[in-house]
Amino acid sequence: MKLKNKALLKKNSYIHGKWLHSKKEFPVTNPYNSDIIAQVTNHGKEETNQAIAAAAEAFKIWSKFSASKRSKILKNWRKLQLENLEDLATILTTEQGKPLAEARGEIKYGASFVEWFAAEALRVYGDVIPGHMANKRITVIKQAVGVVGAITPWNFPSAMISRKVAPALAAGCTVVIKPSELTPLSALALAQLAEEAGMPSGVFNVVCGTDAAAIGQEMCSNPELRKISFTGSTRVGKILLSQSADTIKKVSLELGGNAPFIVFDDADVDKAVEACISSKFRNAGQTCICTNRILVHKSIHDSFVEKLAIKIKALKVGSGLDVETEVGPMINTAAIKSVSALLENAIQEGANISEGGHLIKDQLFEPTLVVNATKDMDLFKKEIFGPIAAVYKFETEQEAIELANDTKYGLAAYFFGSDYRRIWRVSEALEYGMVGINTAMISTTLAPFGGVKESGFGREGSKYGMDEYLNIKYMAWDV
Ligand code: SIN
Repeated sequence: MKLKNKALLKKNSYIHGKWLHSKKEFPVTNPYNSDIIAQVTNHGKEETNQAIAAAAEAFKIWSKFSASKRSKILKNWRKLQLENLEDLATILTTEQGKPLAEARGEIKYGASFVEWFAAEALRVYGDVIPGHMANKRITVIKQAVGVVGAITPWNFPSAMISRKVAPALAAGCTVVIKPSELTPLSALALAQLAEEAGMPSGVFNVVCGTDAAAIGQEMCSNPELRKISFTGSTRVGKILLSQSADTIKKVSLELGGNAPFIVFDDADVDKAVEACISSKFRNAGQTCICTNRILVHKSIHDSFVEKLAIKIKALKVGSGLDVETEVGPMINTAAIKSVSALLENAIQEGANISEGGHLIKDQLFEPTLVVNATKDMDLFKKEIFGPIAAVYKFETEQEAIELANDTKYGLAAYFFGSDYRRIWRVSEALEYGMVGINTAMISTTLAPFGGVKESGFGREGSKYGMDEYLNIKYMAWDV
């Protein structure tokens, strides 16, 4: 890997300000060609325990820093992220596969959370409430929850760390991060920059390891760790939630999605097609908020499908490091197996493949268009997490809403149309945490990101994001 700043390529866990090596290692591979990029230290339960103890010790110091001191260190971290943008994007694309342009976007997206929460650190306001008796006064303050465990996914290996860690550190918490074993290098590069930014030892810890179950279990059961923030599958989210019950931890979960993308008969079809392509094929379809079920009114169905097929056919698939590439490889062979099974099931149930449908080579899957899809297919029920666009027909607004809500998930939903009354009706009827109206670009630091139902709870980003890392304390005064 060609990097200007070679110090960013770290291969050891970062615990209590030290890069800890172990003889046990695991390989990190490039999903485009399966080349081994690095052998990374394989740590587990014991080192997680060590990291939590270090973070608990550091909490005593970090939480007592003035908000402006923490804010300044966060600003340094952001500055370093942007100064090292090209290297961070190269590391990200090499271990994760997404096109370089998307990787650059992800680094900037991550840095925007650090900028936002560096400012929010200065605004952790309390309250004064009228007393309940003549001689009583009530004040409210907000305090950092303590040590935070951040368990982050492979699909956004950099931004999901910044999105969790920035508000945690701004609030005065310290962190132990468990990055996905598929993409630990982005996390370690961020740790290197955190150290350069001036974060004291133990404030920012990263434990790398393949035994995610043991690391997760230690985080959830250790009473010194007070908060778990997880982004990943609903299956794992449920395990972490139940494991956190014993010590009653504060938990936030950003889990799976099954996003509907509704196109009403009065929609701007060209605009909807553009948005559908960007939402469906971002990161080769491997994001929690990717369009999953495209519901199109029968009167515009054929013209929508025709336009969508042209755009899908034109997508350039290849190595993320190639500047021409728009859709990179899928993360691993398990992901390929999963999308292949979904397609097989759809074909058996009567759907047709109008574009793509094949594995090109290794982990490169053709952007695919499935038509005549129905709600009985696995494609409708499961999170696709791959480059497959499946189109369904509907006739009435009520039917579209029912189809959209017919899932256990509730993360993101999108719809296109122009009648403002319908826009309000549909926005309110959709059982989702986030709704894109005539847009699929919903990810921004300024808005609360999160879901309902089995997509989880808690919000990341925005003015609400800090609350996840703060406890409210009320003080009653006798005066
Ligand atoms: C995710 O897929 O979990 C995050 C996507 C985003 O923040 O846009």
